[in-house]
Amino acid sequence: MTSTTTPPRITVLGTGYLGATHAVCMAKLGIEVLGVDVDERKIAELAAGRVPFYEPGLAEELSTALESGRLRFTTDFDEAARFGDVHFVCVGTPQEQGSDAADLRYVDSAMTELASRIHKHALIVGKSTVPVGTAARLAQLVTEVAPQDAEVELAWNPEFLREGFAVDDTLHPDRLVFGVESEWAEHLLEDVFRPIIDAETPVIVADLATAELVKVAANSFLATKISYINAMAEVCEAAGADVDVLATALSHDGRIGGRFLKPGLGFGGGCLPKDIRAFRHRAAQLGVGQAVAFLEEVDAINQRRRTRTVELVRELAGGDLRGVRVAALGAAFKPDSDDVRDAPALDVARMLYLEGAEVAVYDPKANENAHRAYPDLVYVDSLGEAAHDAEVVVLLTEWDEFRHADPALLGYVVAERRVVDARHALDAEAYRQAGWEYRALGHPAVASVRETSLAPS
Ligand SMILES: NC(=O)c1ccc[n+]([C@@H]2O[C@H](COP(=O)([O-])OP(=O)(O)OC[C@H]3O[C@@H](n4cnc5c(N)ncnc54)[C@H](O)[C@@H]3O)[C@@H](O)[C@H]2O)c1
Repeated sequence: MTSTTTPPRITVLGTGYLGATHAVCMAKLGIEVLGVDVDERKIAELAAGRVPFYEPGLAEELSTALESGRLRFTTDFDEAARFGDVHFVCVGTPQEQGSDAADLRYVDSAMTELASRIHKHALIVGKSTVPVGTAARLAQLVTEVAPQDAEVELAWNPEFLREGFAVDDTLHPDRLVFGVESEWAEHLLEDVFRPIIDAETPVIVADLATAELVKVAANSFLATKISYINAMAEVCEAAGADVDVLATALSHDGRIGGRFLKPGLGFGGGCLPKDIRAFRHRAAQLGVGQAVAFLEEVDAINQRRRTRTVELVRELAGGDLRGVRVAALGAAFKPDSDDVRDAPALDVARMLYLEGAEVAVYDPKANENAHRAYPDLVYVDSLGEAAHDAEVVVLLTEWDEFRHADPALLGYVVAERRVVDARHALDAEAYRQAGWEYRALGHPAVASVRETSLAPS
């Protein structure tokens, strides 16, 4: 089998958080890229050099890529089929309504619309996160719908980028995983990722099923680690122990490590929650539900962090949230993102509101998306506005703006100096010294002696 000497031309189908980043970064690496989406507004924005979501550094890279002439955008699938040697499918795979399964209709549609228009030898590469077995089904589908004069093959290349670090993660991934069925596909993917491979990034070549599984197995592990320390937080609260000190002590054990061992409000976003649910659902279909039954508990622990945060706010408010003014700091599922999909922050704000609290939500970047998701909540434009006259402040997303706020100054704005630090991101001692009643999940209500010097990395 041959590999091309000039980089293959690629298309990227689905230009959301994953696809737009992938398209921009591939153009930066010297590849001719055509970004494709069914959303005309999104394509118009991207073509005009505007990123339709917040991702640090992406707007600058988009401008440079557009100026280079290597990146264009379209909604035309015929053009995409003509243009690409390799087609990356990056469309959404959300949770199905009323089920834990992944909704694969967008992947199916993108693959069908594309493959039925291809008249050459081309590789279609799935990047979306899918249940194991999907690629094998799609490999058959694209062969069936492709015209007679086409030779279409399917590969899977799962993506591990983190929102907030998406550009760097795409350009400098920890590893590349190529799920392929031929050497031709493997070499073509090597040609696409040549600069990344030349930087000595490990490449794992696998069959389609293993490649699909790497992604969900990785996300399940990370979710489990987060829920593990949050389960310890529950035990700490019952036992009067301090989960931050516990996490620090655990993190010094090289076998455990400190990353993803930070107690708090838990995980959310467009990946981890739906991915672990879809994994359980798929494992059950395969007759091995028992093997990942623990993920149900991982999910349950994660959900309990949200209700426990509401309880802490209620406790601080004196037992009844009706009419209590609460400043909800953060709506995005994590800082440096405007993504509110399954965001713990927004969920807590919504639960406080449903209990009768007067909630003012402020997020530096996610207010607009949050308003679209929950229009009933009140959104304000600054930290000061949110905190003004608040009876309880609750930190829900650990943006730097909130971490670095001066507790003394904030104290002048609020009605009562009470704070729930749901992300363990504030300097507890500084808040207490400034006269605040400070509470965090898994912390004793009274200050532990060494809590400030022992924050986990
Ligand atoms: N966001 C992340 O950090 C991340 C990381 C790794 C993997 N993933 C996976 O990547 C996939 C995409 O996630 P996302 O966060 O980018 O979603 P997203 O919702 O931001 O983007 C999906 C895009 O696909 C487009 N689309 C839908 N149907 C289409 C079609 N038939 N043809 C072309 N475009 C179509 C939508 O208009 C949208 O722009 C998911 O499977 C997700 O699990 C996401």
